[in-house]
Amino acid sequence: MVEKANNKILPPLTHLAIIMDGNGRWAQQRNLPRIAGHQQGVETVTHIVDDCVRRGIRFLSLYAFSSENWGRPLQEVNALMELLLQFLFSQRQKMLEVGISLRVIGDVSRLSEPVQAALADAEKVTAKGKVLTLVLALSYGGRDEIVRAARTIAEQALNGELDLEQLDNKLFSSYLDTGEIPEPDLMIRTSGEMRISNFLLWQAAYAELYFSDVLWPDFDATEMQKALDDYLQRKRRFGLTDDQLKKNSTNSAEGD
Ligand code: FPP
Repeated sequence: MVEKANNKILPPLTHLAIIMDGNGRWAQQRNLPRIAGHQQGVETVTHIVDDCVRRGIRFLSLYAFSSENWGRPLQEVNALMELLLQFLFSQRQKMLEVGISLRVIGDVSRLSEPVQAALADAEKVTAKGKVLTLVLALSYGGRDEIVRAARTIAEQALNGELDLEQLDNKLFSSYLDTGEIPEPDLMIRTSGEMRISNFLLWQAAYAELYFSDVLWPDFDATEMQKALDDYLQRKRRFGLTDDQLKKNSTNSAEGD
């Protein structure tokens, strides 16, 4: 049933990335503290994870805490970390039952010891999950990720472990936190802001972008459907011409 659902998605959608924005405004509109918006945002996360499983989407990346978010008031940072711990605890059983594997990208060394330990444990116990890989971007910044990769490459080149002649896009990608995770096909940002704010800078080079006016806590399966319907209308050319694309799709159909 899951496969059937994904077969309907043409062009194929393997990896969906989401910039979850608007929690604070959602709370403000209700005269609630910002953290109430984040709490409701976590509810949305659980529903959207279910929705991705139902649709047969294989990778879901969520921008949960950016490198820049460290600059927020300490109380908010701590509350977000607490919500993350609760999320890991409350979703553990479901992730195992459904076959969801958790992956973390970002500079985890900046997270507290208990958060790092809980993440490492969740990654370990869910590692065999094959249905959906849930990628949480935490303490994450695209530029920071690229600089960390460049640093490792430079170190390995100096040590003689890496021949720089071998370095190409594919090899460089393997040094990023996302490693073997395929590049995102579609990136959604909620709350009406139209920018990608340092999320998956390298990986999203050819991602289709979709901006929803809905605040993240209100984002649901109906809004998701709108984004996917829009994505279905896109022509993904990857820098090629229409004729080349037609030829490629004929060739691959003949190969099937
Ligand atoms: C942006 O809203 C959202 C964040 C900075 C954090 C997103 C975090 C969650 C949804 C909860 C934690 C996630 C997991 C997976 C447990 P904002 O605060 O910038 O909203 P605003 O722009 O309206 O102020």
